[in-house]
Amino acid sequence: MVSERHLSQADSTQFVLFGAMGDLTWRLVGPALFNLHLDGQLPDDFRLVGVDREISTEVLSERLRDGIKRFSRNGAPDEKTWNAFAARLDSYAIDLSNAQSYQQLKQHLESIQKNTTARVFYLAIPPFLFGPVADGLAASDLHLDRDGVRIVVEKPLGDSLATFKAIDRTLSVHFEEKQIYRIDHFLGKETVQNILALRFANPIFEPVWNRRYIDHITITVAERIGVGHRAGYYEHAGALRDMVQNHLFQIMCLVAMEAPVAYDADDIRNKKLDVLRACRPIPTDNITAFAVRGQYNTGWIEGKHVSAYRQEPDIDPESNIETYAAVKLLVDNWRWQDVPFYLRTGKRMTENVSEISIRFRDVPHNAFPATTGLNTQPVRLVIQIQPREGMILKFMAKEPGSPLRLQPVDMRFCYADAFGKASPDAYETLIRDLILGDATLFMRSDQVEAAWQLLTPVLDAWAANPAPDFPNYTAGSWGPEAAERLIARDGRAWLTPSHF
Ligand code: BG6
Repeated sequence: MVSERHLSQADSTQFVLFGAMGDLTWRLVGPALFNLHLDGQLPDDFRLVGVDREISTEVLSERLRDGIKRFSRNGAPDEKTWNAFAARLDSYAIDLSNAQSYQQLKQHLESIQKNTTARVFYLAIPPFLFGPVADGLAASDLHLDRDGVRIVVEKPLGDSLATFKAIDRTLSVHFEEKQIYRIDHFLGKETVQNILALRFANPIFEPVWNRRYIDHITITVAERIGVGHRAGYYEHAGALRDMVQNHLFQIMCLVAMEAPVAYDADDIRNKKLDVLRACRPIPTDNITAFAVRGQYNTGWIEGKHVSAYRQEPDIDPESNIETYAAVKLLVDNWRWQDVPFYLRTGKRMTENVSEISIRFRDVPHNAFPATTGLNTQPVRLVIQIQPREGMILKFMAKEPGSPLRLQPVDMRFCYADAFGKASPDAYETLIRDLILGDATLFMRSDQVEAAWQLLTPVLDAWAANPAPDFPNYTAGSWGPEAAERLIARDGRAWLTPSHF
């Protein structure tokens, strides 16, 4: 998060990128590093060392440039800027499972930069390689500088509580918790970070941010895209593991947490953990009242006919994997007792939209005649994470003229309009914090563990009972009917996402 230190003054840094020729580097990490370079945000003494099985600095340079051209928010780099960035590149070819090669890697790293004070090992590689890499780095003592060395991993961090713990053990056996940075890229998004600013930098929201004034909260992360070419991963993950366990839970924690004492990584993460710890366990004998799954059928999106999930490339034609998940959670504490949090996410939905909707209670006494329309539209605060970043407060106002009639109106704040500049991509924010050693926006082990624990009853029930009705929602819709029932049972409804 925002740090007082400026990156160009940061210590001399070596960014060692395992999986430098892979997809994650190509699409996200490479463009983010380049944009930080463009903005003058990298330390003056900075080297990016790409590590992969087959790699050379020239090949790495071409690959990064191609990814930047396609995916960077700043478009293709010009020759001069590119050459300046390329001068910071280096590479090392290594068989990651060969323990001997790490000694040579160490020598190489020491030969290109003397007295590096910060070294980031970024593992953009599949989790089964985390162990061999962590062992190899430790065997060469590359982990020992506890303040300067960081190791970075990214989901999937297991597919259950047990597998998460196993992955985590492979790292924690050599690295201290303060050295391990677990990425959830949603935490790098501006609007997600803004939740804390909204709540704790203003005196007006916090007094009503509780069960007395809030009826319920919904968090929606809807995507139009389907599974694409990620069958290999998605067929083992599904929406609950892919999105709810991490992104949606992180958002919920920021919405529901208590005020931090200090803007400090541990304090904030403690408060977030408290939310997960306060969540009422989902009862194993009543899963359907708390969790719903869906899988998309064929349908139409933006005028194009799209396939059903089971017809997508490399997907099992009888797949039981969910592409939609909705969960209802109750947070058992003073602030939130009996205020449900409804979380939903899905692929092939009507719109690309991620938003948090805080639905306030109806007025306690209706002094206006029924014909005026009071309470026809609930008062709510909508925090939109994407596509537009901003907030809308929806409330009632008197329509001009007579007879007396009340109408819902919107008050808007839009990031782009207010600040007039583009927000950095989530990865830029996170990589910047990584280099500075600020762990606030990264997930701590106990938090990931609590998240897995909370979802275990649902994962187990779904694995044991294949869905009889898949596919159960049309591509281009808002998800399965069962999700409407989940919330309707409480006398509520998913409110349509807002448009800026
Ligand atoms: C990833 C999921 O973590 O987040 C994807 O694996 C999903 O399935 C993506 O599409 C959404 O992220 P963003 O930043 O594009 O909203």
